[in-house]
Amino acid sequence: MIRPKSLCAGSLVGLACVLAACAHSPPRATKSAPEPAAVALEAIVPAPAEVAPATTRSAVRIDATTRLYACGDEATAVAQYFVELVQRTRGFAFTVACPEKKPATGIRLVFDEGRDALDGWYRLKADSGLVEIHSGSRSGLFYGAVSLWQLLTAQTGDASAVYVAAGEITDWPRYPWRGLMLDSARHYQSPAFIKKLIDAMALHKLNTLHWHLTDDQGWRIEIKKYPRLTEIGAWRVPPGPAAAKDIDPETGKPRRYGGYYTQDEIRDIVAYAAQRHITIVPEIDMPGHAQAAIAAYPQLGTGERPGVSTDWGIHTYLLNVEESTFTFIENVLDEVVTLFPSPYIHIGGDEAVKDRWKASKRVQARRRQLGLADEAALQSWFVARLATLLEKHGRKLIGWDEILEGGRLPASASVMSWRGTAGAIEAARAGHDVVLSPAPDLYLDNLQSDAGDEPSGRPSLVTLESLYRFEPTPAELDAEQAKHVRGAQANVWVEHMRTTARVEHAVFPRLAALAEVNWAPRERRDWPGFLARLPAQLARYRALDLAYAESAFLPRASVNAAAAEVDSVDITLSNQANFGELRYTLDGSEPAATSPIYTTALRLRTGTPLRVATFVGSERLTRSTAVATDGAALRRRSSSELKPCRDNGLLLRLEDDAPTTGERPFYSVDIFDACWIWPQAELATTTALEIDVGSVPYNFQLWRDAKNVVLRKPATASGELEIRRGRCGGKPWLRLPLKPALGNAERTTLRAELPSRGKGSAAAEDLCFVFTRPDTRTLWVVDQVRLVP
Ligand code: ACM
Repeated sequence: MIRPKSLCAGSLVGLACVLAACAHSPPRATKSAPEPAAVALEAIVPAPAEVAPATTRSAVRIDATTRLYACGDEATAVAQYFVELVQRTRGFAFTVACPEKKPATGIRLVFDEGRDALDGWYRLKADSGLVEIHSGSRSGLFYGAVSLWQLLTAQTGDASAVYVAAGEITDWPRYPWRGLMLDSARHYQSPAFIKKLIDAMALHKLNTLHWHLTDDQGWRIEIKKYPRLTEIGAWRVPPGPAAAKDIDPETGKPRRYGGYYTQDEIRDIVAYAAQRHITIVPEIDMPGHAQAAIAAYPQLGTGERPGVSTDWGIHTYLLNVEESTFTFIENVLDEVVTLFPSPYIHIGGDEAVKDRWKASKRVQARRRQLGLADEAALQSWFVARLATLLEKHGRKLIGWDEILEGGRLPASASVMSWRGTAGAIEAARAGHDVVLSPAPDLYLDNLQSDAGDEPSGRPSLVTLESLYRFEPTPAELDAEQAKHVRGAQANVWVEHMRTTARVEHAVFPRLAALAEVNWAPRERRDWPGFLARLPAQLARYRALDLAYAESAFLPRASVNAAAAEVDSVDITLSNQANFGELRYTLDGSEPAATSPIYTTALRLRTGTPLRVATFVGSERLTRSTAVATDGAALRRRSSSELKPCRDNGLLLRLEDDAPTTGERPFYSVDIFDACWIWPQAELATTTALEIDVGSVPYNFQLWRDAKNVVLRKPATASGELEIRRGRCGGKPWLRLPLKPALGNAERTTLRAELPSRGKGSAAAEDLCFVFTRPDTRTLWVVDQVRLVP
């Protein structure tokens, strides 16, 4: 395996090397047990701006008896946060005191009013028994404490003391907007979860939570003046037969799904975030993504009465442009600004397809009356009015990059670039501040690996490494224009994240990469160095009870029949980040630090119980995975192992809608052309095919792309699974009626005995699997195919 570049030469393992300051060993212990190595000041995430070499060799010992000193409100507040955090995650119970004179030993937090108050700047100095953190800004003192917490948790295990290497960190952020967007509209998350996420963001030195609170599928913020927004707009019945059968005993009707945040809850969350130096920027998406609002108050729309949407994708309902609608918006924003002190309010502005504005006589009359050439100009006029409204409240407008269209964007407005970086470049050149949150690079709803154990998500791979390598300031901007780049933001759209565990899987550890992108000076960004700091970061996630993804590190296996040897398989192992060592066992036991390290392809007897885990030195980094090596493993493929028929399809990983409680399976499917190929399936020794099929609701609004969906005509009323040999375009070889699967919300196994293929047929042929669909609201999917000998 490739090992990350060592931060200090000569060490045996990357992890121990990075975490140990080789040059500054702790004082000799008098006890017989060896003392742990000192923690290097570089061992934090995000990487600090500067680390000065120490002038002494005396690491500072921190243990449960260490005294913590802070005076004044600012430093005491940070100290109390630090005490709680360290207690919770490292077990040391410090108490806080204000000393009469400067202490000689311990930890000291100092708020230096009048000192360099650059937001986020701090200095952490460890020497001669004392760790001191100074800052002239509250956020800086807080970040200094977060860095010290990281130093105290940089070594796994629970040794009774930590030695912090002598030296000095001087640190400040590269960008002022270090953001994460959470979509609470598509799925509602509890206030407790929002706080958990805020806590974790703060520990990554992120400072902006962009909270997507309204959309077609839900309105989640209580507005006192318009109670129907949450009485109606916050609830929906999920699509599909499983949800329709899930009857709420209280109402006798299908259970409603949703929720909203009361104003009290929001105030509490905003205050909680502020204590952690996080600003919450609320988003009220307008004029599109407004179907839930229109469901609650149809007079806001263009004449229709839609329900709250249960679909994903591009919806066509827009707010209208009547004065009464601006009164509504004004009243909503009045309440929004009293809840959120953020200088920015996000007004959305994205994906407002104009069909209904075009078709509405009233909207067209208003457009002409305003002397506006087209609907883009009308949206621009709409956005400019919102900017004026917000200015009256002393707030600034920010919106998705569509707000650039139509030519009327006020100079004070900021632009969030999501359709790649073009919007950021155009906006910065025009003098607008910009935040980079381009798809797919920073969209955390994209899958982080193509392995079959990933939960649901969108298709573009956004790996830990690809995110780490994202550069927020586009190279196209000159130095003056680049000053408008305020930072980068990752977006967590949650269509495919039904649970908060799913959100955590999507966010961590990619948030650590985002943190470093936003914080560390560009020249300090170093992928191998980042990887070397990750095992400790993952241990922190475990201490914080965050269900992080192991996607970058989990061992992956490729199993093939051994050429010219019966009853044997060849196995290659790897992990995505190419990090650590893969240790394996062949007797079913858990791999240990003493298990052999994988170096080259293994040839094993079929059926050997191979188990693999990733280690870094003697520390296990991942859970272990069992690799199936039996003959049957070679004769089955799951949907993620089959090939989609189109190379550039929209291959989603979708979750089944059944069962209503408990784990549900995931399927990889191109929602434009649900078609899978098993290239060169071994048919000479196959007598039958077994195919597990499932179905999911087809709840995608594809707007103009809907015409590109491939629909195949059924031969019978209930539709069929068709299997073709060779090309997908030819005549079906086998047609399996879906009838046995109808009405079964879970998976059904269909079986076909193979007819003779004729003399001279190749031993292996491509098999192509498609469904004919009698009903466009159901998407049939292949879960697994087995070649039965
Ligand atoms: C977006 O992803 N529609 C901003």
